[in-house]
Amino acid sequence: MSFKFNFSGEDVAESSTTDTLYIPWFDCKEVVPTNQMEELDSIVKHAKMFICGDVEIGHVVTSEAIANILSTNDTYNATECAEKDHSDLVVGKYEGGLKIWECTYDLVEYLINNSDKINFVSARVLDLGCGAGILGIYAFINGANVTFQDYNQEVLEHVTIPNVLLNIEEEEDTAKLLKRCRFYSGDWASFNNKYDESEMYDLILTSETIYNDNNYDKLINIFIKRLSKTGAVYLAAKTCYFGVGGGVRQFEQKLENNGALQSEICWKSTGGIQREILKITHKL
Ligand SMILES: C[S@@+](CC[C@H](N)C(=O)[O-])C[C@H]1O[C@@H](n2cnc3c(N)ncnc32)[C@H](O)[C@@H]1O
Repeated sequence: MSFKFNFSGEDVAESSTTDTLYIPWFDCKEVVPTNQMEELDSIVKHAKMFICGDVEIGHVVTSEAIANILSTNDTYNATECAEKDHSDLVVGKYEGGLKIWECTYDLVEYLINNSDKINFVSARVLDLGCGAGILGIYAFINGANVTFQDYNQEVLEHVTIPNVLLNIEEEEDTAKLLKRCRFYSGDWASFNNKYDESEMYDLILTSETIYNDNNYDKLINIFIKRLSKTGAVYLAAKTCYFGVGGGVRQFEQKLENNGALQSEICWKSTGGIQREILKITHKL
């Protein structure tokens, strides 16, 4: 059940289909920032910068985060499981949130280049499958209220929340600012069903979340239920996830079959591995 992505299309090392297997997906729960605020000094010492144009976003180093996670006494440790398998992800256990994936760069660049059209001030933003949370942090520092969602609780605790804290100005009141952020772990189906009907988003940002086509209905249901009537989803992904099954064309097909939403390709890469950004809105 573990995957190594094979972006080049050669040499499919490990892959697995999940449809025949029962996967006990984790339930959604809210993760509340606690001791991360006290540990900020040591987090800052080991921080790195995500740089895209003029935008700089501080983030913890993956190896540091892994060391921290492995040193905790959790009875179940998803990272350990991924480490052991040398895997990018282990379906239903660890879903890849520890590192920053390529399409995050594409989407931040797109948001910067379209800042005259995409307004974050007071917007309600969902960073869906956030991992390090770079997209949500970009929205946050531009004035949005942000919900960060990642499958793995320890990714939120050891990577996403420290990253948000790293990008809050020193003189600002951390506790007050964190009121503009919420953090949820667990499966998308559970996330969508657990919370108040009224929890809606003006913008949903999501990068590298469509590799597993077994999750497409869950994603589409979130878009239908949680995207405000005039809102937009920006979905950044590789055109094809070789050896895994998912890709942009397959996702578009699912959207079309469902019928509630419309999508357009708003950006395409010109070199290297093919990548795209889809803009998805409710049908008028
Ligand atoms: C490949 S990582 C991408 C992380 C980040 N968006 C980036 O671009 O760097 C996939 C993300 O989707 C989330 N994810 C995958 N499957 C999920 C599921 N069934 N329910 C909830 N989250 C899921 C993972 O936790 C992870 O954050």
